[in-house]
Amino acid sequence: MSDTLQTASLEADFDRVIERHDRIEPRDWMPEKYRATLVRQVAQHAHSEIIGMQPEGNWITRAPSLRRKAILLAKVQDEAGHGLYLYSACETLGVTRAELTEKLIAGKQKYSSIFNYPTLSYADVGTIGWLVDGAAICNQVPLCRTSYGPYGRAMNRICKEESFHQRQGFELLLTMMSGTDAQRAMVQESVDRFWWPALMMFGPPDVESPNTAQSMAWRIKRDTNDDLRQKFVDMSVPQAQALGVTLPDAELRWNEERGHYDFTQPDWDEFMAVVKGSGPCNAQRIAHRKRALDEGAWVREAATAFARSQREDAS
Ligand code: 3HC
Repeated sequence: MSDTLQTASLEADFDRVIERHDRIEPRDWMPEKYRATLVRQVAQHAHSEIIGMQPEGNWITRAPSLRRKAILLAKVQDEAGHGLYLYSACETLGVTRAELTEKLIAGKQKYSSIFNYPTLSYADVGTIGWLVDGAAICNQVPLCRTSYGPYGRAMNRICKEESFHQRQGFELLLTMMSGTDAQRAMVQESVDRFWWPALMMFGPPDVESPNTAQSMAWRIKRDTNDDLRQKFVDMSVPQAQALGVTLPDAELRWNEERGHYDFTQPDWDEFMAVVKGSGPCNAQRIAHRKRALDEGAWVREAATAFARSQREDAS
């Protein structure tokens, strides 16, 4: 069989797997662009988990009680675990974690825009749990059915933990909302700041999203950015009512005809600026990640030397 015929036959097999909603596994043939799209998305996702440890990590030493400190420590540690599952999934596509981290630090790969906003009060820990992890769940539950096996399996486990994170955020906010006027005001101020960046997490509107159509066709993504954003709004409104907070959108109202809430779009110019590196904390987040990488070099070297000596002893 000629090379062209062989590629056509492999491509047909690949299309059939996608068509059947089956999984592509690391040793299966896949189009180069499918691999590159996955590396882009999974790496960006992994980087988001790792960079996402910073805004909340900011409050570990200042948690208001030992109980809150233990909860926050466990949550931030979970995010590190999510990053590791995702880097491992990405490694099955032929790139190493070290290469991916290098690209993140060089600004050649992205991470979620949301983590370029500061955490200014302890209520932000609750709001991140409620809105940011809530948005993450909306986006990530469908990704459990993504077409690439290792990514989907990583998402199964991550989603279970993210649900728990979302509930702990809601519980923290509910506790503060049953506290003093000052605590309630702190929660409202925090929700006012995080609502719009949370809507941006789903990516640009579908008409401006260069990757959605192809990623949907390959079943890497299972829903479009706009559909997920709508789902998130519909889910958040009754939760805000239960909490007693106001979402900062005067246009937010139920649309009987559509069977969804109408809402105002976030400021997409601000989104683009943040994605391009001009958000309030972009420089700080990357500088911190680089410092952690540099300061951890000796640990990685020691672990590699130890593993090598174990192998030599065994042989
Ligand atoms: N922040 C930064 N960049 C974003 C973005 C965001 N919120 N939304 C979109 N972009 C980027 C895209 O990466 C793309 O740039 P690129 O081509 O250079 O990669 C560009 O903007 C255009 O966007 P598209 O809609 O065409 O891109 P995608 O089809 O990849 O869709 C996505 C974007 C919906 C974020 C999709 O990649 C996705 O579902 N990713 C997996 C989920 C993920 O990464 N989540 C991170 C959230 S935080 C998190 O999980 C941590 C948890 O602990 C809370």
